[in-house]
Formats: sequence, structure tokens, C-alpha cells
Amino acid sequence: MGRKFFIKTFGCQMNFNDSERIRGILRTLGYEPARSWEEADLILINTCTIREKPDQKVLSHLGEYRKIKEKNPKALIAVAGCLAQRMGWELVKKAPVIDIMFSSFNMHQLPELINQAQAGYKAIAILEEPPEDEDKVWEFPTERDNPYCAYVTIIKGCDKRCTYCVVPKTRGRERSRSMESILEEVRRLVDEGVREIHLLGQNVTAWGRDLEKPVPFSELLYEISKVDGVERIRFTTGHPKDLTDDIIDAMADIPQVCNALHLPVQSGSDRILSLMDRGYTKEFYLERVEKLKEKVKGIALSTDIIVGFPTETEEDFEETLDVVRKVRYEQIFSFKFSPRPGTPAAEMEGQVPDEVKTERMTRLLELQKGIMSEIAKTYEGTVQEVLVEEARDEGTLVGRTTTNRWVTLEGDRSLLGKIVKVKVKKASPFNLDAELLEVVR
Ligand code: SAH
Ligand code: SF4
Ligand code: F3S
Repeated sequence: MGRKFFIKTFGCQMNFNDSERIRGILRTLGYEPARSWEEADLILINTCTIREKPDQKVLSHLGEYRKIKEKNPKALIAVAGCLAQRMGWELVKKAPVIDIMFSSFNMHQLPELINQAQAGYKAIAILEEPPEDEDKVWEFPTERDNPYCAYVTIIKGCDKRCTYCVVPKTRGRERSRSMESILEEVRRLVDEGVREIHLLGQNVTAWGRDLEKPVPFSELLYEISKVDGVERIRFTTGHPKDLTDDIIDAMADIPQVCNALHLPVQSGSDRILSLMDRGYTKEFYLERVEKLKEKVKGIALSTDIIVGFPTETEEDFEETLDVVRKVRYEQIFSFKFSPRPGTPAAEMEGQVPDEVKTERMTRLLELQKGIMSEIAKTYEGTVQEVLVEEARDEGTLVGRTTTNRWVTLEGDRSLLGKIVKVKVKKASPFNLDAELLEVVR
């Protein structure tokens, strides 16, 4: 009987993509996916530590997985990702059941770590700095569930120092992946049938600056668009400060770049933005949005907002609501400020009580709900291009518009992976009901 793995992933799309790579690594070692953690020989948790809640979830999962050793004493428990990088041995002390530990710095070392653990040693490999040979990781394949849309990590780490954020600590300094390595993966994915490439990084707009010969991110967009078979390109996350005119122009100019951008604002108050060390003002942000809307017609914007940052007053929060009213986002991800160990904001005076955070969050969501249903209405009766991604029961297909909206339509499986034109019949905030007009390509 072959050995089986089970992976549980928390956190952002980059962690999700890392898990796809880890699956690829485990496959090359001969592991097969288990249906549940109970039947696995290797359980791996890819962790997140961006806020307090994900930390707690990881610890409770570890408590649960401990039971597996009673049934299968040889089973291994591995912890990867950002919480592993932040806590290291401290986490092993809390959860001695851990056999293997590594982070996004050294995923390529997983084969050796498994060997060590099988020989009975604790294989804890948490490094201060990313190792010289970390690029070896790109030699491993990824294993994906979606055959048509694929993530491609193009830059690791973050050189910004937002005062609330643990990511620079857990993912290290910015390291751009080389253009050749990215294009090679894109070509391989397209050969496998992928049509949409989603570029990932904590700060993709900073890509290329740290390369031996610096290259602007906009040039990477052009190069990817030239790869035969790439129908769509998305990228996440862009930092407003690094969203230069050449990137906006490239978005407008390259037909494959989707009409959507996630541009985290975090707050609308200049005072809070400065305490966060975001490096821009409300006015600067709104000017970037204006430019985007002017050049990239019909662009759908989404954002991240933190409510209840230390010292945030009612007036500060009103400024955030003002940005939301002005920009009219298609989607907002909002979070209550969560103090993270070792970050400057956690130590700031004037922490906001939880009731106030909850109350502000409720008002923000209420405002956004209205905007979302108004925007949804504007889709009714329009014609949209959709990449068909999935077949659900009885002749129902789902896909996404270039503005990243989910669409449901009737049709058979032969349309999977095709770009089709549809007419929207009924629109709600999270779904467009549409009918098929024609197959485009
Ligand atoms: N690199 C991205 C964000 C990555 S983290 C950027 O700079 O925009 C994803 C989101 O989590 C952030 O945009 C922020 O809104 C939220 N976040 C990060 N740290 C947080 C904290 N300490 N408390 C609450 N939300 C936080
Ligand atoms: Fe965190 Fe700021 Fe870097 Fe985003 S840009 S990952 S919020 S430090
Ligand atoms: Fe979480 Fe790490 Fe992503 S802390 S949000 S998994 S970069």
C-alpha cells in the first residue's frame, strides 16, 4: 500500500499555492492523497498567522490530529507556513506531536525532512534567512484542482514595513523569481490546458526591482501575454504605492489582463495611514483609482480594510467610509485590527475596544452591502465573457467574468475550459445567472 498525505491549508492565496507545490513534491516522493486525515501517513498543516484567529485554529487542529498516532504510530505530523516561521521551536513545545517543521523559505527540503523524521528524529528546519538554494523549489510541479486557472508565485516576501503586519517576518525580504523561471512555468501550465494565469505575491507590483538586471513588472505582463495559449492574466496583491503608470497602461493595453484589481487601502484616514506606515495618503490612493477607472474601462476593484487600528476615532473611520463610497468596490475584505506579537502597532497606545471594532465593522458591511447590490444590478442584461471552470450537477456550469464575478449558466461539459459569451439574466451580489450566447474560443 502506498503512503498517503493529507494537507490542511490556512491563509492567503500564496499559502494555497505553496500547498499546491507541496502536493507536487509529495507526489514525486510517491505519496497519494488521502480522503481524510484519519487515513493519512503524513498530515501537513500549512499555517497562517496574519491575525489571532488563524493561530488558534492551527492549535486546535493540531490537538485533533494528535489522535492519529494512537491508530498509526508511524504517521507523521508536519507544520509549514507562516506560524511555523514565526514561532519555531516555541510551537513544538506547545504541540510536541509535531515531527516536521519548515516554512515557505525551504519547501524544497521537505524530502530530506521526511527522511529524518522517518528515522525517528524531530525534523525542525526553521531558518533565520531564506537559504541560497531556495529556487530549487520551482523545479517541483504543482498539483492543482482547477485545470483551467492556475496560480503562479512570482515574488516572495515583502520589503514594506506596515506596522500591523507579520508578513515581512514570516516571509522574509522581497525575492523576485526570475523572468525565465516564471515563463517556463507559464508555458508548462498552458501545455497542461491552463487558460488563466494568476500571478501571486504579497506585493506583485514590486516584482523585478531586486533582480540583478531590474525589470519592471509591466514588462513581465507583456511577456506572459505573448505566451501562446494564455487567455487571461490576473495578479494579486498590488500595493497602491507601487502601482505606477506603466502598470496601469499595460493593464489597459494587454487584452488578456483581466478587468479587475485588488488594491488594499486599509484605511481612509491620512493619520491612520501614516501610523500604519503605508506610504500613501487618501488623496494619492483616490488619484490612482481615478487613473485606473479612466484607462481600464469597467475595471472591478476590490480592497482590504482594517477597522479599529490603534487610536482610530469616529472621524478616522468616517474617512474610510468616504473612500468606500467614492471608489464603489465590487468586493471588500474587512478585518478587525488584531495585535500581532513583535509588530509596532501591537505596542501602540490607544488600542480600540472590541465592541467599537465590531460596531464599525457592522456599519462598513452595511454600506458595502448596498453598494454591492447596486453594482450587481448594473450587470443585468449585459453581455459578458466567461471562462467556464466547473460543471455542477445536471447541466449547470460555473465560471467567472473578467471582472471576477461568478456566473452560473446551463450547458454541457464540452464547454469546460472554453471562453463563452453570455447574457446576464439575473444578478445578485455573489452570482450572475446567465444564458449562453456563443462559444468565443
Ligand atoms: N500584502 C498585502 C496584504 C497581505 S495581508 C497588502 O499589503 O495589501 C492581507 C490583509 O490582512 C491585509 O491587507 C490587511 O487588511 C489584513 N491584515 C494584516 N495584518 C493584520 C492585523 N494585524 N490585523 C488585522 N488585519 C490585518
Ligand atoms: Fe504586510 Fe504591508 Fe507587506 Fe502587505 S505590504 S505584506 S500589509 S507589510
Ligand atoms: Fe497568512 Fe502568511 Fe499569507 S501570515 S495571510 S499565510 S503570508
